[in-house]
Amino acid sequence: MRDKIVVVTGGSGVLGYAVAEAALAAGAYVALPGREETSKLAKQDRLLVLGGVDLTDFAAVTKAFEAVVARFGKIDGLANIAGGFRWQTLAEGDLSGWTDQFKMNLLTAVTATKAALPYLRASQGAIVNVGSAPAKKAGSGMGAYAASKAGVLRLTESLAEEEKLAGVRVNAVLPTIIDTPRNRADMPKADFSRWVKPEDIAKTILFLLSGDAKAITGAEILIAGRT
Ligand SMILES: NC(=O)c1ccc[n+]([C@@H]2O[C@H](COP(=O)([O-])OP(=O)(O)OC[C@H]3O[C@@H](n4cnc5c(N)ncnc54)[C@H](OP(=O)(O)O)[C@@H]3O)[C@@H](O)[C@H]2O)c1
Repeated sequence: MRDKIVVVTGGSGVLGYAVAEAALAAGAYVALPGREETSKLAKQDRLLVLGGVDLTDFAAVTKAFEAVVARFGKIDGLANIAGGFRWQTLAEGDLSGWTDQFKMNLLTAVTATKAALPYLRASQGAIVNVGSAPAKKAGSGMGAYAASKAGVLRLTESLAEEEKLAGVRVNAVLPTIIDTPRNRADMPKADFSRWVKPEDIAKTILFLLSGDAKAITGAEILIAGRT
């Protein structure tokens, strides 16, 4: 990943941070478009934090990607990590939960991808989307979340086909439960050692963005740890 330019969405979150940290350690330049104006990562020339960006706002996202190219000259990779989880049953939950999950998980990825595509075509770059295991089979209370993440997988599949000849690769990872402070607080009795570490998912994402994965597009990789 040395000297590759990588855009990471969701950089203020747990997995986004891990991916940005790993990309910087691998010698990449990293841009973090998002709502947060600052990052917990150490300030450095290779890091560009683009705050005040709602990833569902195409005009704002387009401007952010223009700023990345103005600073670093090109974009080689996009990691669509922004997203989130709300548990609610259909009977007890409200309908806005469905539009919220759609916006948070699918529209953020669609918007960032559309804004990045011209640059990724120019660099023959790659995209990695973050789906989720329930995108394949939803459990109770996961309808809206699973439907929105299933949308991320359908985006991955259709775009991989659309961009094959243009040379842009598109893959997805599907984590089960990530070892995050929020999950630990929500499930205090669970065996945390069985959960997937953010750093391990980051390694897979960086591999899929790298030239070592040049033969892989349209793949959806389950990352389950020992869950
Ligand atoms: N945690 C898990 O167990 C798990 C399991 C499977 C899949 N995943 C998926 O993995 C990804 C990362 O999870 P995580 O646990 O690291 O989540 P997290 O810590 O809650 O971080 C989510 C990130 O998404 C950003 N975001 C959401 N909507 C946005 C919007 N409209 N505009 C800009 N930024 C937005 C958040 O920004 P703000 O800080 O501004 O809110 C934050 O940076 C998500 O897609 C999640 O669905 C997580």
